[in-house]
Amino acid sequence: MSETFEFQAEISQLLSLIINTVYSNKEIFLRELVSNASDALDKIRYEALSDPSKLDSEKDLRIDIIPDKENKTLTIKDTGIGMTKADLVNNLGTIARSGTKQFMEALTAGADVSMIGQFGVGFYSAYLVADRVTVISKHNDDEQYIWESSAGGTFSVRPDTDGEPLKRGSKMILYLKDEQAEYLNESKIKEVIKKHSEFISYPIYLHVTKETEKEVPDEDAKVEEVEDDDDKKPKIEEVDDEDEEKEKKIKTKKIKETSIEEEELNKQKPIWTRNPQDITQEEYAAFYKSLSNDWEDHLGVKHFSVEGQLEFRAILFVPKRAPFDLFETKKTKNNIKLYVRRVFITDDATDLIPEWLSFVKGVVDSEDLPLNLSRETLQQNKIMKVIKKNIVKKALELFQEIAEDKEQFDKFYSAFSKNLKLGIHEDSQNRGILAKLLRFNSTKSGDELTSLSDYVTRMAEHQKNIYYITGESLKAVQKSPFLDALKEKSFEVLFLVDPIDEYAMTQLKEFENKKLVDITKDFDLEETDEEKQNREAEEKEYEELTKSLKNVLGDKVEKVVISHKLVGSPCAIRTGQFGWSANMERIMKAQALRDTSMSSYMSSKKTFEISPKSAIIQELKKKVEADGENDKTVKSIVQLLFETSLLVSGFTIDEPAGFAERIHKLVSLGLNLEEEAEVVEEVPSAETAAAETGDSAMEEVD
Ligand SMILES: *[C@@H]1O[C@H](CO)[C@@H](O)[C@H](O)[C@H]1NC(C)=O
Ligand SMILES: *[C@@H]1O[C@H](CO)[C@@H](O)[C@H](O)[C@H]1NC(C)=O
Ligand SMILES: *[C@@H]1O[C@H](CO)[C@@H](O)[C@H](O)[C@H]1NC(C)=O
Ligand SMILES: *[C@@H]1O[C@H](CO)[C@@H](O)[C@H](O)[C@H]1NC(C)=O
Ligand SMILES: *[C@@H]1O[C@H](CO)[C@@H](O)[C@H](O)[C@H]1NC(C)=O
Repeated sequence: MSETFEFQAEISQLLSLIINTVYSNKEIFLRELVSNASDALDKIRYEALSDPSKLDSEKDLRIDIIPDKENKTLTIKDTGIGMTKADLVNNLGTIARSGTKQFMEALTAGADVSMIGQFGVGFYSAYLVADRVTVISKHNDDEQYIWESSAGGTFSVRPDTDGEPLKRGSKMILYLKDEQAEYLNESKIKEVIKKHSEFISYPIYLHVTKETEKEVPDEDAKVEEVEDDDDKKPKIEEVDDEDEEKEKKIKTKKIKETSIEEEELNKQKPIWTRNPQDITQEEYAAFYKSLSNDWEDHLGVKHFSVEGQLEFRAILFVPKRAPFDLFETKKTKNNIKLYVRRVFITDDATDLIPEWLSFVKGVVDSEDLPLNLSRETLQQNKIMKVIKKNIVKKALELFQEIAEDKEQFDKFYSAFSKNLKLGIHEDSQNRGILAKLLRFNSTKSGDELTSLSDYVTRMAEHQKNIYYITGESLKAVQKSPFLDALKEKSFEVLFLVDPIDEYAMTQLKEFENKKLVDITKDFDLEETDEEKQNREAEEKEYEELTKSLKNVLGDKVEKVVISHKLVGSPCAIRTGQFGWSANMERIMKAQALRDTSMSSYMSSKKTFEISPKSAIIQELKKKVEADGENDKTVKSIVQLLFETSLLVSGFTIDEPAGFAERIHKLVSLGLNLEEEAEVVEEVPSAETAAAETGDSAMEEVD
């Protein structure tokens, strides 16, 4: 009846990695298996909330650890939900989780084996210490089955007809490798449990062997006595108590008796019920690790209680790093464990914390919620809403506390800035508080990041808005022609190069009553009266040229204008205030499932801006006046200027081949190649344009 299965390929690889690792900190296997057992107990308790009869098979929820020195086995047993035959086959071997591959990649990249729990494959850590593992499991809906494997590519599953029947739950027997016999040592087990699993919320019982000395009647001695007795019988009758005692002594002996006692290892009362002043950082760290499977300490912690109309206690933790699956969409698991009056209810209460805070881990223990909550009733529960609101508030306080230490905050920000930005996008109530936590590189921040508050303190007196530029990378935005005019005015510009920045900023709109302005879009730049006069004069002077350029470019652009916001660069392409920026267009194009109907009206309305301060534009003006807009060279130059502007402004070119051809002509000119008659014709003017484009590019670099 035993069936043999092959491990799924990735799991098989993972097993041989685990078996062959020279990793020394093998004790983590116990933490993983205990945490696995605790999860199984959580599951049955949760199911029992809506159907209490599920606990009928076994009401006592517990974990037992049983070392067996004779057989060299260590058994870890739980009365959790158990596994059906299908669960055993699927969960322990044939269906790989995304974490399997990711964990192996992380290992290859130098990660530590102790991270295994984070990837959801902690079970396999059993093979760090065992060369054979047996899992006996009983689920309410199925018979008892045995899963067994010595790794090596296969495992077997068979019905367990003659073993000790489990009422419900799983029993893992690890056949320890010879060199791992220390995990049979009771003190060692206690030490490891204390270190890693102290805060498991089900009792963990270690089965310890107690030796007691006991006086028992000495059968052999008795026989001897009897013989003696015959001779000395008269004496005995004469003599008193003293001798009687002697006789007793002779007739008993001390023997050693072994008995198995169950010793509860985690008797501490839940840490969140204790006074924060009595809890050390180490205790918080140990609790955090047991809660999160993290192998590193937390970055920040907030332990608080809320009293009054509603009562609850909570501890929130911020990890040091983002988990590997932070933004995995399918992941529904919540990181806040909900307790009701010390009884664990669920870690799947999606209404306890908003998605953007999904990286925060912790526990909430409510005094008011009913114990028999179901998933459905949880969602509509008013108490839950109040708890959620408080959690968000306290989490924000915690972030602000972290922000007081720059080094800590740098870590926090590099791990979770995306979440803060998502928060700005989604949480209108806390937008203002979150905005204070944002940090950006800017034209004035140097090697540091700047906050919006710091930006505001640096603002020039006549500067009204907070300016930012969006783009694909720091390199791309740092040299953008859009910065020219703002640099000239000494206005600071923030660099927003995270795709989510733009979503956040469009929701934020303003900070401390200053408008947030994207300088790649159309906007009004503060100008003095003199600047205004100049601009108006130039607009008149170049009116004809803009008309001609619009004629050449046709409907590739919305309009052509003279720009006072460009300085050294001849031209750039700006988008309308309300459509997408070039950066947003790039992001949306990259999204495979974008809504195409949206792109037609949101897609950027392009304004081609030319700078009268640029020598190229001045020359172009003369040439158009002399030769007219239909001249071949004029057309070619205008095309090239337009296409290069697309590129520097963050757009893509629709017809790269045409662009390349025009560039190749220029290159041919530079190399004095004269095969094509056409090229020869264009020599004088195009050469000037090329030279000047080159020059202005050089200026930019400086
Ligand atoms: C352990 O060994 C004893 C004999 O010493 C045997 O009766 C028992 O079945 C073994 N237990 C397991 C779990 O193999
Ligand atoms: C232990 O964890 C594995 C994943 O690592 C899971 O599939 C399995 O159901 C768990 N086993 C027990 C006995 O809880
Ligand atoms: C058992 O473990 C403890 C603590 O790790 C150690 O001090 C002790 O020597 C070990 N005992 C044996 C018999 O190995
Ligand atoms: C929960 O228990 C209370 C009584 O303790 C009962 O009135 C209520 O109907 C139960 N709710 C659910 C959802 O079972
Ligand atoms: C941007 O900020 C980071 C983080 O402080 C810094 O390391 C980097 O040098 C800055 N980059 C630029 C181009 O200023």
